[in-house]
Amino acid sequence: MQFFSGRFKEKASHLILDFHSSISFDKRLYKYDIMGSIAHVRGLGKQGIISLEDSQLIERTLKDILRDIEAGKIEFSIEYEDIHMNIEKILIDRIGDVGKKLHTGRSRNDQVAVDMKLFTKDEVVKIQALLLDLLEVINSMAKENLSTYMPGFTHLQKAQPVSFAHYILAYAEMFRRDYIRLSNAISLADTSPLGSAALAGTTYPLDRQFTASQLGFSAPTWNSMDSVSDRDYLIEIINAFSLIMVHLSRFCEEIIIFSSNDYGYIELSDSFSTGSSIMPQKKNPDAAELIRGKSGRVFGDLMALLTTMKGIPLAYNKDMQEDKENFFDALDTVKACLNVFIGMFHTLTVKKENMLLAASQGFINATDVADFLTEKGMSFRDAYKIVGSMVAYCIDNNTTFENLTFENYKNFSELFDNDIYEAISIKNCVEKRTTLGGPGEESVLAHIEFLDKFILDSEKHVNEFKLNNILD
Ligand code: ARG
Repeated sequence: MQFFSGRFKEKASHLILDFHSSISFDKRLYKYDIMGSIAHVRGLGKQGIISLEDSQLIERTLKDILRDIEAGKIEFSIEYEDIHMNIEKILIDRIGDVGKKLHTGRSRNDQVAVDMKLFTKDEVVKIQALLLDLLEVINSMAKENLSTYMPGFTHLQKAQPVSFAHYILAYAEMFRRDYIRLSNAISLADTSPLGSAALAGTTYPLDRQFTASQLGFSAPTWNSMDSVSDRDYLIEIINAFSLIMVHLSRFCEEIIIFSSNDYGYIELSDSFSTGSSIMPQKKNPDAAELIRGKSGRVFGDLMALLTTMKGIPLAYNKDMQEDKENFFDALDTVKACLNVFIGMFHTLTVKKENMLLAASQGFINATDVADFLTEKGMSFRDAYKIVGSMVAYCIDNNTTFENLTFENYKNFSELFDNDIYEAISIKNCVEKRTTLGGPGEESVLAHIEFLDKFILDSEKHVNEFKLNNILD
């Protein structure tokens, strides 16, 4: 059977079949294609556009086809170009003329739009579940490291002490925003294009509200031309994926630095490291590097889809078929990277002593020495200047604030008293910072509590999410 045989006299050349065909990649939409077809055929039956009998036979056969695909009994062919025509061909082979009625009042343009939206809804929630797993791992690691002090950096220079808990919770905020970004994108995409047909709707009395609710969409779309050519949501989601990759990549960059010999703040487990084929002493953070590297692929997918879409006149154009490989690649990459990152992060060892040692070097409590003088009545600018000269003195004499004698202190300012040692201990420098969002234990605990609640509420949504299963 040739779908285009009415208009076309010659058979398509193999070169062109190959070029047009999307079956090699859009076959992964088979389930959603069948769901969309069932909703459509139920609608046709309900509206009396075809008989209820025919509608039910088509639905039953589609379900059989689904089972056969899942059992690996079906081979798709590039001759039928894409998943839509392949399934329709199998349907017609099985039930003849009745099968030919399925495509009444429908086009592949609204069909593919429905398929992609269903697929996206189903897959994005899995990415969200992974983000929640990651948040959980970060939060539990934070609970264990409230008093693990380490240097905080600006310009990759030691700046002020923080806790490891506070540091990793910065990433929790990024991943929490990523979660919300995906929810927002999905809720904007939650409309059904089914019934828009090729671009101009149809003369058949379709009930679009009915098919939308059959598929679990919150409403039908409002404009048939937009319906078949909207790929905004895919761009938004790849954008959200790109930000996940930015965040993973930054985290990986720090894991690579912090696990290096010169830092030694953390150690990756053997199972997430690799050796070198020539240097026996090496333990390399390959997984972290690969995640950092794979971010480039996802940004590439985003750029590719933006560029594909920018010059397309309304409504559907074949260019849009290009959305799939980009989207699938971005999705698969993000999924793999999140899984690997969670495993790698979960199993790393925190080297508390090394972090504390690093925090005791580099004058990272200089601001606190200045704050001490300010509390005693000196202006901050004057205090800043005095502490600057103290740093110079310490460097010249190869010592630290902690090791200066009380007399040394007095030489710099009469305002220093014995409390200074206590005031500038790394622990105190962190714990005094209890403003909301700060690194002090009190503030960090409040953040952890907030995240626990966020995870719990969101897990409920993720676990309960189910596409309206028209196949049950
Ligand atoms: N395989 C096509 C795609 O993914 C389906 C829609 C084809 N529509 C058409 N008018 N050629 O975009």
